[in-house]
Amino acid sequence: MTQMLIRGRLLSFKRAPHSLTDTDSYAYESDGALLIDGNTISVAGSYGTVKAIAPEGIEEIDHRPHLILPGFIDMHLHFPQMQVIASYAANLLEWLNTYTFPEECRFVESEHAARIATHFYDELLRHGTTTAVAYCSVHKTSADAFFAEALKRDMCMVGGKVMMDRNAPQGLLDTPQMGYDETRAVIADWHGKGRCHVAITPRFAITSTPAQMKAAQALAQEFPDLHIQTHLSENHEEIRYTGELYPDARDYTDIYVHYGLLGPKTLLGHAIHLSDREADVLSEAGAVAVHCPTSNLFLGSGLFPMKSLMRREKPVRVAVATDIGGGSSYSMLRTMDEAYKIQQLLGERLNPLESFYLMTRGNAEALSMAERIGTLEPGTDADLVVLNAASTPAMRLRMETVKTLGEELFLLQTMGDDRAVVETYVAGKAMKREIERLQDTDNT
Ligand code: GUN
Ligand code: FE
Repeated sequence: MTQMLIRGRLLSFKRAPHSLTDTDSYAYESDGALLIDGNTISVAGSYGTVKAIAPEGIEEIDHRPHLILPGFIDMHLHFPQMQVIASYAANLLEWLNTYTFPEECRFVESEHAARIATHFYDELLRHGTTTAVAYCSVHKTSADAFFAEALKRDMCMVGGKVMMDRNAPQGLLDTPQMGYDETRAVIADWHGKGRCHVAITPRFAITSTPAQMKAAQALAQEFPDLHIQTHLSENHEEIRYTGELYPDARDYTDIYVHYGLLGPKTLLGHAIHLSDREADVLSEAGAVAVHCPTSNLFLGSGLFPMKSLMRREKPVRVAVATDIGGGSSYSMLRTMDEAYKIQQLLGERLNPLESFYLMTRGNAEALSMAERIGTLEPGTDADLVVLNAASTPAMRLRMETVKTLGEELFLLQTMGDDRAVVETYVAGKAMKREIERLQDTDNT
């Protein structure tokens, strides 16, 4: 197996930080190294100790003075919406009907799906994201393209064929039976292959009939280990219409409870406008509310009360995500900058240690995958991001006055984007510079 030593400033989290001075929450090595054995991290520590146990003549990659962290995790985005980003709409439902649904219809074509999949993974990796949880389109072809490309790149990805059988164009509808059969087929073809994980994916209550919800419930019962993803309480008009479609439900959350879809592996996109009762239900189920700040601002959906949900007597588990193409950036740094600003508007503070915890270990824990990703622990997969907080002239200038690690992370979050990502490793393999080299070749 190939071995290699990667040198730089190591930062990883042991648990959620309580404050900016909570130095016990993370491990930091100012001159650190990782010994990579094939696709996993075998040792992490100071350069001196790692070098001493590494074989003589081992290949060394020196990323000093940059930071090395576990690769970013994006907990909610839409693979068939790359060409929807920056669509000009007043709100969620207009945006879905005018731009998003027509665009997703194109993913019935496997050639189109395969082409977009290449770009999708290129963009994730250029932005330092090594794992993502994605919605494909309703078509099995889209899930096939999504997972085929993940497998090719040896990436840990979660994804699902969307189930939707009403309130969308004909080309974007399945039926309860088709949604069930095709999800089963996607599971059979992809789940557990390489690092691929299939999620049961009813889009949201508006686009699934009660009969389809029952089909999703049957899948959840047959495959209790799989993740379930859907959308919840993103927009007031959406919530009102959902209530009309499910008049017997107490509230939006109750619909998913009724169909047995709420548990610790359930990822609920947005969940902005929850009642106290609904937050209690999420908490008791251990379900995860996935905050998508750039999308919530872009679509004018609302301000997600992240901090107050986290510190309730019955806390709600929270994760963070881009929600491409409602979201406006692939970058988890840009995403956390907007998350910070949303908390500011709510009179709350999100400190940069918490942000970097959320993008890495926090999201991995929300996925129940922290044993494999999201940390630099020995034995875990070598998915890494290398960050440069002086990646632009303005950042370089600001770095001259930065004194602490917290300040450096805050600068990365506030001004950083794909330019701050020096390299991205997937299962021990450097990916970003190679992608950019190939893109440069294409452009000449
Ligand atoms: N709710 C149902 N589908 C979608 C989607 O594609 N994007 C967003 N932001 N919300 C949704
Ligand atoms: Fe979404």
